[in-house]
Amino acid sequence: MRKMNYQKILEIAKRRGIVYPSFEPYGGVSGFYDYGPVGKRIKENIENLIREVFIIKEGCFEVEAPTLTPEKVWIASGHVKSFSDLMVECLNCGEAYRADHLVEKHLNISCDGKSKEDIEKLIKEKEIKCPKCKGSLGEIFHYNLMFKTQIGPGKDKLTGYLRPETAQTTYLAFNRLWEVCRKRLPLGVLQIGHSFRNEISPRQGMIRLREFSQAEIQFFVDPENKFVSEKKFSEVKDIKVKLLDKEEREYELSLEEAVKKKIISLQIIAYFLGLSLKLFEDIGINPKKLKLRQHKDEERAFYSTDTWDIEFHSENFGRVELVGISDRTDYDLSAHKNLSGEDFSVTYNGKKFIPHVIEIAYGIDRPFYCVLESSYIEEDKRRYFKFPVRIAPYLAGVFPLVNKDKLPEKAQEVFKILKEEKIYCFYDDSGSIGKRYARADEVGVPFSITIDYDTLKDNTVTIRNRDTREQIRVDIKQICSYLRKS
Ligand code: GAP
Repeated sequence: MRKMNYQKILEIAKRRGIVYPSFEPYGGVSGFYDYGPVGKRIKENIENLIREVFIIKEGCFEVEAPTLTPEKVWIASGHVKSFSDLMVECLNCGEAYRADHLVEKHLNISCDGKSKEDIEKLIKEKEIKCPKCKGSLGEIFHYNLMFKTQIGPGKDKLTGYLRPETAQTTYLAFNRLWEVCRKRLPLGVLQIGHSFRNEISPRQGMIRLREFSQAEIQFFVDPENKFVSEKKFSEVKDIKVKLLDKEEREYELSLEEAVKKKIISLQIIAYFLGLSLKLFEDIGINPKKLKLRQHKDEERAFYSTDTWDIEFHSENFGRVELVGISDRTDYDLSAHKNLSGEDFSVTYNGKKFIPHVIEIAYGIDRPFYCVLESSYIEEDKRRYFKFPVRIAPYLAGVFPLVNKDKLPEKAQEVFKILKEEKIYCFYDDSGSIGKRYARADEVGVPFSITIDYDTLKDNTVTIRNRDTREQIRVDIKQICSYLRKS
C-alpha cells in the first residue's frame, strides 16, 4: 500500500510535468531531478512563502552568491577536512555504499550518532555482505562529499568546489551586509539557491539529491542575547510538539514547556522551530507527521553546538529531515577571520564581538516531496493533489464547454481578463469537460472556470471547486475577486 501510493505519485509527477529524472535520453544519473512546468510553479510558490515569512515578517534580507567557490573558503570552514560520510565498497563487484545506511537497512536500527568504529564493528559482527552480489565488504573510510573542480586555466587556475551549503557564501559578505543593513543586530540574511553534494548512493528519489535547493537563513545575533521578544515567542509558544532529545527521550509538550524544562535550551531555536512548523503546515505538509529531533553529540556537524531538525514521517521513505536549526556560534566567522585575515567583529551596544549565528537551513526538494505525499488524495475513482491554494501551480483553468457556437471566443475573453490581472491560469479546450476537470484536479488546480451557453446570455461562468466539486455561477466581472479571496 505504502509503495503503491509512491508509485502513483511518481507516475503523475512524471506524466504531468511535476518532476522527472534528469538527463533521460542518456539513461539518467542518480541524484538529479528536473522540475517540469507544473513542478517549477509549485517550487516557486514554496520559496515565496519562505520569503514571506523571513523577509516580510522577520525583516531578513535576501542575497545571492555564486555556487562555485575557491578552495580556501572550504579549507577555512572545515569542509575540506570534515564534510564526509562513511563509505564502504564491495570487494567483489565494487558497488559503493554509505556505511551507516547499509547497517540501518540490514539491521533495522538507527545509526544516528554511531562512530566509524561502531559501524565497522556492526558490519563485522553481523557479517553484513554486499546486498547486490553478497560479496565481502572492504574497510570503511571517510568520503568527502564536495564536488571538486578547477576555476580558470593555466598558471592562474584555482581549485574550486561546488558549494555544499549556501551558508558560507553568506558569511563571506558579512562585513558588507553589516554596512548595507545599517549595523543592527539581529541581522537575518536569507539565501535561496542550489547546493551540491556528491552523495554516495542516492537511491531515494528526490529525498537525497546531488544537486538540490536550499533556503538558508543566517541569523547574526549578539552572543549574550540569543532570544526573541516574549511577544514574538507568544506566537508559537502554545504549539504542541512531539520531540526526541539527544538522549533519545521522547516528549509531547508545548514549545513553551520545552524551553521552561530546558529540553530546548535556546528560546530562539524554539521560536524558529515553531515558525517552521507553521510554515510547513501552510505549504501543505501534514503536521501530524512532523517531529522535532535534537542531534546527538557525536552526530552533530562540526560547526554546531546544538542542532534541532524537523523530520517528516514519510509513508515511503521513513524519517525525512526537512530543516536543521543550529547554533553555529562564531565558528564560521572566526574561521574565515583566521584564514583570510579579515576582521568580522562588530562594535554594538558598546561591546566588541564576533556575532554568533543561529542558522535555519531548509531544503526545498524534500519539503516539496512531502507536500506531494501529504496532498495526494484518491476518492471516487479520482486522484488529485489537495494543494493549499497558495502552493497550487495555477489558480484556475479556463474551459469552453464545447468548441463551437462562439464559446471558445468568450472563453478566450475570460482567459485574457485573468492574465491581465496577473493570475496564473491555463486554457484547455481538448476532450470532454469531465476529462478537463480530471486533468486540472490531477495537478491540484483549485478552480475550474467553464464558459457555457448561459455565459453568452448573462455573462456568468461556472466556477468548480476542486475539493468539494461544488459549482457556483459567478459574474465575469467578479471572477478575479472571487478567486483571490478563496
Ligand atoms: N547549512 C547547513 C546545512 O546545510 P544540512 O542539514 O546538511 O544543513 C539542510 O542541510 C537541509 O538541506 C536539510 O534539512 C535538507 O532538507 C536539505 N538537504 C541536505 N542534503 C540534501 C540532499 N542530498 N538532497 C536533498 N536535500 C538535502
